[in-house]
Amino acid sequence: MKPQRAYTNLLRLRINLALKRQVINSYPVLAYIDPTSACHLRCPACPTGLRLGLRPPARLAWDVFEGVMDELGPYLFELHLYNWGEPLLYPETPDMIRTAKAHDITVRLSSNLSLSLDDATIEALVGSGLDTLVVSLDGATAETYQHYRRGGDFDRVRANMRHFRAARDAAGRQTPVLVCQFLVFQHNEHEIDTIRAVYQSWGADQLILAGAHMPFPPHDAGFAPSTQPEFDLYHPDHPYQRNARRLLRGRAAGSWLYGGVVLNPTGAISPCCGVAAEADDFGHVAGGFRAVWNGTRYRRARSLFQQSRRGKPAAGVPAEWLDGMGAGLPAGEGVICARCPIPFRQDDIHKTVARVAWGALVRAVRERRPRYLLALALMGGPNRAAWRWLLRWLRRQIAAAFTLAR
Ligand SMILES: C[S@@+](CC[C@H](N)C(=O)[O-])C[C@H]1O[C@@H](n2cnc3c(N)ncnc32)[C@H](O)[C@@H]1O
Ligand code: SF4
Repeated sequence: MKPQRAYTNLLRLRINLALKRQVINSYPVLAYIDPTSACHLRCPACPTGLRLGLRPPARLAWDVFEGVMDELGPYLFELHLYNWGEPLLYPETPDMIRTAKAHDITVRLSSNLSLSLDDATIEALVGSGLDTLVVSLDGATAETYQHYRRGGDFDRVRANMRHFRAARDAAGRQTPVLVCQFLVFQHNEHEIDTIRAVYQSWGADQLILAGAHMPFPPHDAGFAPSTQPEFDLYHPDHPYQRNARRLLRGRAAGSWLYGGVVLNPTGAISPCCGVAAEADDFGHVAGGFRAVWNGTRYRRARSLFQQSRRGKPAAGVPAEWLDGMGAGLPAGEGVICARCPIPFRQDDIHKTVARVAWGALVRAVRERRPRYLLALALMGGPNRAAWRWLLRWLRRQIAAAFTLAR
């Protein structure tokens, strides 16, 4: 179980966020830590795949990782061990996961899995305690797959997925949950039904179908968003667009600036996972985490949300706000949050808080450990996002009960 100070930190975070403070006394609860900026594939809508050179090539030094985990580990609840590179090219990734698990942090990793992995590496990853492994596989045939995952080897990905599943079963574990992630474009949407039919036979537990960002010219060379509006992030009715408009019109503070952080392989700190260029980062961890966390750029970014309603985009959202991932826009001019690359994700930290709240309740009941009820009280109880989830769940149960009764 996490120490009590992790839960009191959550309460402080919620107060800082509600009061839109610029200088804050809480630590992040969600982190992206990117082990390496290297990747051998050339996906044409990824800044790394396009070799845009927005970040210098680097591998995260172990002592930097350790220092950050010593300071933030007790407060973090969720860790994404990837961002702009291929995390399985970094040999110490299993050790990083083990370090995070020792702090009782939920760890998620996304990989192209198109690389040669020996038995020992797969067993080490399974045994590390990794919670979720997302496998990027945007095709149900080799030809379609390679259209986006340029340089990738479809058969190897499938073999690696099966290998992971076999190693997990042999170890008698339920984790890592294996998620097959299929980014839907126009060129691969005809394979949605095939992937739905076969992903389990490849060893995956879940399938995620998601729209793709296409912000990097020449992204239109042979690429187009899906013709299905639910997978076209640029369609005005897509939930991302609706959510972005809601958040930008509202006056809520960008929650990443209070509860989320990204550590890049160079040790540079970004305010969220959508910052493609190092020029937009907020500082370097070498100067001390708190010095960056409450430094000039963070304070300026937090102050953006203190503007009056008139200071925010009132109607409609300028197209560039949804251009995605911040590329194509001038880097380094003011703080990036004034031209937020992922406005639809500004409320992500509320979701983390909600997951922690319900997680504590579930563990209190399942494991009969009343200390989790104390933890829930210390963090200020469930937040609004948690209550909204509960209402939605109740609605679904009632609808299902009515359907059965009929
Ligand atoms: C930049 S990748 C780094 C991790 C790893 N190399 C991979 O591809 O899974 C991080 C995540 O972004 C996803 N991704 C890649 N291109 C994308 C795009 N154009 N739009 C949205 N997500 C994308 C990947 O599938 C992956 O889940
Ligand atoms: S595999 Fe991941 S990091 Fe590599 S180019 Fe593709 S999306 Fe980018």
